[in-house]
Amino acid sequence: MKIIEVDNLVKVYGKGKRALKAVDGVNFSVEEGEIFGFLGPNGAGKTTTINILCTLLLPTSGRALVAGHDVVRQQAAVRKSIGLVFQDPTVDEQLTAEENLLFHAILYNIEPASKRRARMETVLKMVELYERRKDTLKTFSGGMKRRLEIARGLMHYPRVLFLDEPTLGLDPQTRHHIWSYILELRERENITIFLTTHYMDEAEFADRIAIIDHGKIIALDTPDALKSMVARDVITVHTADDERMAEIVREQFGLDVRRNPDGRGFSFKVDGGAEFIPKFVEQSPVHVLSISLRRPTLDDVFLELTGRQIRDEEVTDKDRMRQRARMPVRGHIAR
Ligand SMILES: Nc1ncnc2c1ncn2[C@@H]1O[C@H](COP(=O)(O)OP(=O)(O)OP(=O)(O)O)[C@@H](O)[C@H]1O
Ligand SMILES: [Mg+2]
Repeated sequence: MKIIEVDNLVKVYGKGKRALKAVDGVNFSVEEGEIFGFLGPNGAGKTTTINILCTLLLPTSGRALVAGHDVVRQQAAVRKSIGLVFQDPTVDEQLTAEENLLFHAILYNIEPASKRRARMETVLKMVELYERRKDTLKTFSGGMKRRLEIARGLMHYPRVLFLDEPTLGLDPQTRHHIWSYILELRERENITIFLTTHYMDEAEFADRIAIIDHGKIIALDTPDALKSMVARDVITVHTADDERMAEIVREQFGLDVRRNPDGRGFSFKVDGGAEFIPKFVEQSPVHVLSISLRRPTLDDVFLELTGRQIRDEEVTDKDRMRQRARMPVRGHIAR
């Protein structure tokens, strides 16, 4: 069953000369129980799309159904069916974990109190925060607050959970943790998960991924199928004279060469990289300082489709602000 259906969705911000088409005719659908990811660079239109699906923003044109309800005409029904974890943190620091969840449960009319209590216990245990339920969030780390937001999004048994950049700015171990909850959730509650991310490794957890750029979906498939679009191995080499070596690779092998973003060395793609490397090094007229091979990633797919990298090496100011917002405040107690 299709739990999300999006038909030619458009969102224009502003008017006249300053109008910006943030979402530009997007079409897709999500099956119930699926983990569906939106992958794209800053400003691609990910949050805008999520906000429309969650009824927080009206589309300029097009149509979207969530759990069978129209996001414009049946907002209350849509809101009952969904849980939402915003891109920017929204927990109340002054309240305890338990109070944050109870407040949400009351807003959502989860009755009676015994049901609220039971649900709170389940979701807190799921994200391993049950022992900390009486502590105020001031004493929580960034990762713990994020886990609590996920728990809160689940309190009212939503059929679809929207996660906007669920692990932005968190350390790899915490990201891994959060992902194990998300995967477990799907098993336990048969919930559909719609997430946005710009982490390639994170996108790999999704059943299907839409790659979005400038408000348009430029590819949509399983991670494996997307990667097979760039079936070849990526060779990265650093030599004593990269300029000259790059020229040789271009001329002799007729391959496209790309300078590495850090300015050292370059990369190109070949079939059968493992056999290619020893021959290449042996025959190279320029001294090879280092050479490596890797299988294509979703980053390569984005590069292939757009000619750009999804995120530059440096983190944008916007990301940095968000990361700071996630930092532990004081009295950080490690788990
Ligand atoms: N309220 C708004 N008014 C005007 N323009 C907006 C508004 N919100 C977003 N935009 C613009 O719309 C475009 C899409 O923004 P959106 O937040 O959807 O991108 P995103 O893919 O979520 O990016 P990020 O990775 O930074 O979260 C951007 O160019 C952004 O500047
Ligand atoms: Mg966003």
